[in-house]
Amino acid sequence: RRVDVLNGPNLGRLGHREPDVYGTETYAALVAACETTGAELGLSVTVRQTDAEHEMLGFLHEAADTGAAVVLNPAAWTHYSVAVRDACAMLTGPLIEVHLSNVHAREAFRHTSLISPIATGVICGLGLDGYRLALRHLAARPS
Ligand code: DQA
Repeated sequence: RRVDVLNGPNLGRLGHREPDVYGTETYAALVAACETTGAELGLSVTVRQTDAEHEMLGFLHEAADTGAAVVLNPAAWTHYSVAVRDACAMLTGPLIEVHLSNVHAREAFRHTSLISPIATGVICGLGLDGYRLALRHLAARPS
């Protein structure tokens, strides 16, 4: 199965960005965790990150066309981007929404997700393990 792991704005700065909230593991460690777990599970995993909304929309359109499963950390777009949600609504494979931090334990504006109502499942607060668990689920999922 093909899985696109897509990361939104500021996630490329992991390891340096608010380490008390997001931990000290870098974006390179996130990529390595997904690639290693994907290889163990026999998945074809592509990991991408962008700070540009139009580029994320392009990644999601591509996933819709290929039927790839998507693991998405929409970062700040989670909370306000109707365009990212609309692109997610076009997906033909399963969609797992992942957040490194427990968004529900943080500011009120992070308690709302425009993505969760259309996601297959949601994982938050488990750091990089959230990505590993999402991939594990997709490998075991029948369709
Ligand atoms: C995040 C949580 C979002 O609220 C925030 O804007 C991010 C990262 C997370 O992974 O915990 O950029 O998606």
